[in-house]
Parts: sequence; structure tokens; C-alpha cells
Amino acid sequence: MNNITDFETVYLDEEKGALAIVDQTKLPNKIEMLYLTKAKEIWDAIYLLKVRGAPAIGVAAAIGIYVLVKDEQTDEMEKFQSKFHEVKEYLATSRPTAVNLFWALDRMEKVVANNCKGTVSEVIELLHKEALKIREEDIEVCRKIGEYALTLVKPGDGLLTHCNAGRLATVKYGTATAPMYLGYEKGYDFHIFVDETRPLLQGARLTAFELKNAGLDVTLICDNMSGMVMKKGLVQAVFVGCDRVAANGDTANKIGTSVVAAVAKYYDVPFYVCAPTSTIDMTLASGSEIPIEERSEDEITEMWYEKRMAPEEVNVFNPCFDVTDHELITGIVTEYGVVKAPYEESLKRIFENKI
Ligand code: MRU
Repeated sequence: MNNITDFETVYLDEEKGALAIVDQTKLPNKIEMLYLTKAKEIWDAIYLLKVRGAPAIGVAAAIGIYVLVKDEQTDEMEKFQSKFHEVKEYLATSRPTAVNLFWALDRMEKVVANNCKGTVSEVIELLHKEALKIREEDIEVCRKIGEYALTLVKPGDGLLTHCNAGRLATVKYGTATAPMYLGYEKGYDFHIFVDETRPLLQGARLTAFELKNAGLDVTLICDNMSGMVMKKGLVQAVFVGCDRVAANGDTANKIGTSVVAAVAKYYDVPFYVCAPTSTIDMTLASGSEIPIEERSEDEITEMWYEKRMAPEEVNVFNPCFDVTDHELITGIVTEYGVVKAPYEESLKRIFENKI
């Protein structure tokens, strides 16, 4: 069987002129690449979670918008700018919570705005460079997060993660999984517990799959078992990713993350959020301002089951993310280091010192 670590999660296929992604809805049973060239295809891929995870969504949006405007047949900069803006606004409606989507699209639009005195073809070439740069940066950012996170644990530790903040959610190392991969390279012998992550099973289908493919020691558990493994002393640290961190450290991540954080606090297990600065939104004062995506009810009542497993017409609430209060977070691991409470100050310092 193919090994997922041999595949790139998200990249620009120069020959096909397409955004290339692994279709994550097919995993772990089938590894299938998709080559996307149309706006609706790219929008759908993000909305349907064919490409998912905050950093990968950002990279897909950057490459996607380049693909969608690269063949624009106009020499008039104003027309090009207006087309670019239209495509940007469209892609921005695909998912609301991961701020990387807006961060990447804004970064691409800045390239257009800063170079609008040049020709359209020059701007398109600069957009090409910027999209590749956003992708390359992600690899380095995740590696640095992994190095800092590794200083927080020791060989032989049990680590728990929720959802998939792995290589499938980024370009290479993942965020929450970066210390796991780097630790594995160094022979740290971690025991990794992976929450299956209802309702879309990103833990079971994606995290367990990629870590196992890479040779790590993985144990899959249901979401309601994290308290049990912590009580048994099997977990020395929790690492999770995030979709948006507010200025006070409140963090939106996959639904269920806040429950893991509360349980970790109860059992005195350190709870770390791995956050590239592209996922930190300093414009929002607290987590209550983070838009939380709600998805269709059949993800809970029908998906994965042979037949419906809930009464017809029962009320269903399906928020895709929850906000973990900053009081529950032991530290936030960024590419510039690990920051601790008070997060208003420590996160601000990170951005002040960022070049
Ligand atoms: O709905 P998803 O699968 O896109 O949710 C993903 C998560 O919640 C991840 O933990 C988060 O995006 C961080 S990925 C490094």
C-alpha cells in the first residue's frame, strides 16, 4: 500500500497549471491526488475538507488564487485588480474559522496592490513567487514549532493530540505533530495517543494514518477516553493545533479541544497549543469574537454509518470548532518560541519582535 508520507499535501503543479492536493475525504482507504484549476473546484475542495487544516487551507488559497488569475487576458491593471478581488472574495467565503485563509489571500492581494504600477504579467509572476514562498515558509515555521515544542517533553513521554494538526494539515511536519516527527528522528520513543475526533474523524482517518505510516508508536482512542488515559498517567503532555488564536490567547480548534484542555487541567497534564503566527489574529480581543463554523447535521446522524443512527427530525447542533479559554493553556508554541500567560503581553511581544 502507498505511504502517505510519500505524497505532498498541497502544492502547485506547474506542468498542469493546477493546485494539487491529496483528497483527504478519501483517506485512509485511498490516496488520490486532485488537480484543480477552476474557482468552484477550489472553493469546494476547501469547503468539503478535501484540503483542510488551517495552514494547508492558507497554502491552498494562495496557490489557488494564483492558478485562477494567472491566465487573465488583460493588460489593464485596473481590470486585473478587480478580477483578483472578485476571486479573493469568493474563496474567502469557503470556510470562516481558520484565519490562515484570509491571511494568505490578504498577503497575495498585497502583492497586487504594491506592484500595480508595473505590468499585469509582472504582477502575475510576483503572485507565483509569493504563493510558492507561502508554501515554503510553512515548512520552516512548522519545523521551528517542532523544535521549540520538543524542549517541553522528554524521551519516552506519552503525548496526546486531537484532530489532525499533522503533515496533512500543513506542507510537511504539521504543527502539533512536529515535535512527534522530530522526536522520532531523534529516537525519543514517544507514545502517541490520538483522539478519533468526532464527527469527521480527522484523528482516526488522518493523524493515526500519517503517524503510523511514518513509523511512530500510535494508539487510537475515542474522544471520550482522554480522561481515562490521563488518569492512568499515560499522557505527559497534550499538543494541539489551532484555527485562530485571539490576542488574549483564547484558541479556536477542532470541536472537543476545550474538553481535552479541561480534563488535562484537572489531571495536571500540560496543554500546549502549536500556533504559527499566521494563525494568531491580534485583531480579535478574545475567543468570543472568533467566527465558529457550523456544518450539516448529517455529519453527526448519518456519516460513516451504514444507516442513520439518530431519530428522524431530532435537533442536532454541529459546531465544527470550540474555543479553549486561555486559562486552560499551559503555553502557545510559535515559530518564535513558547509563550506563556499573560498572553496579551507575550503574544504582543512576539509580533513586535517579528521582522
Ligand atoms: O475542520 P478541520 O479538519 O479543517 O479542522 C482542523 C483543525 O482543527 C486543526 O487542528 C487546525 O486547523 C490546526 S492544523 C495545523
